[in-house]
Amino acid sequence: MGSNWEDFYANLPAPRDLDNSIELLKKFTERQGPSVRGIVLVTSGGTTVPLEHNTVRFVDNFSAGTRGSVSAEYFLERGYAVIFMFRHKTLEPYSRHFTGQKFLEMLETNEINGKNVVTVLPEHSERISEVLKKYKQALEQEKLLEITFTTVGEYLWLLRAACQALAPLGPRAILYLAAAVSDFYIPPNEMSVHKIPSSGPPNISLQLVPKILKPLVSLWVPRAFVVSFKLETDENLLISKARDALNKYNHNLVIANMLHTRKNKVVMVTKEKSYEITLSNEQIEKGEEIEKYIIDDLIIIYTRFLEAH
Ligand code: PMT
Repeated sequence: MGSNWEDFYANLPAPRDLDNSIELLKKFTERQGPSVRGIVLVTSGGTTVPLEHNTVRFVDNFSAGTRGSVSAEYFLERGYAVIFMFRHKTLEPYSRHFTGQKFLEMLETNEINGKNVVTVLPEHSERISEVLKKYKQALEQEKLLEITFTTVGEYLWLLRAACQALAPLGPRAILYLAAAVSDFYIPPNEMSVHKIPSSGPPNISLQLVPKILKPLVSLWVPRAFVVSFKLETDENLLISKARDALNKYNHNLVIANMLHTRKNKVVMVTKEKSYEITLSNEQIEKGEEIEKYIIDDLIIIYTRFLEAH
């Protein structure tokens, strides 16, 4: 157990609403006409690893869903349809601009004729309306589908379902796997049913999750353009690990990043070459986002891939 993805799925219960997600994915992919440039599956946010069936506690990771949600916007802007598969309650395209108290600070409330009226402060109006227009356009043109996961099990079932929906598109499907997926889990038959008692130190043993990139690239979407991410905390390992992944899974692009510099620097690794994309201090101060440059370069690499097909 743990090394074979088929055994892994056989022992992993499917999420209760999987059929509904399959239906949504099918309808969305079928609805995209021949004029669409391509459909991108963007995965985003971190997966949890439950410690109990009746889950009170779980192992989680740092991912906020910034990379995925920002990238989804740039793909949409460049004319691609996007399936945004994200961790419940992490950042989403468009609404990510207005999270938390920041949003409330953009509003004011006045009493007019005895009624409370909420308005946007004039200095924020342009910005909100620009984002809102893009959001509405993506919805009206039916270019954005959002589906959510929480646990690593839900993520893996949804990923396979999304691949099944995308496979008929051949090279017009792009997979952009930016989610931070757990490498470890507790198999369902080894997991406590109820809340682990605190009467003594728990003995928790995690097993390996098989690398799902393997069947994904070779079996599920063999003709698609597949982009994976590589995250490291030791700079000396970053490029060699990214290249190892590319050689092992034989997909199209690895985007390598370090935990603490991921917002300003990535390395694009293809079979032919590797090069950095970095934001200058000036670009950072202007509020530019590295994902804009990642997506623009990715589209150039993808266009070459399409021409070769
Ligand atoms: O969300 P943010 O806060 O903006 O952060 C963005 C990010 C750092 C999460 C993102 O840029 C990123 O690097 N995502 C991938 C993180 C990750 O899981 O890296 P990894 O080196 O552990 O895995 C490499 C690849 O293997 C991933 O593409 C993953 O999809 C794949 N994988 C992972 C586990 C698993 N069981 N099977 C897999 O196929």
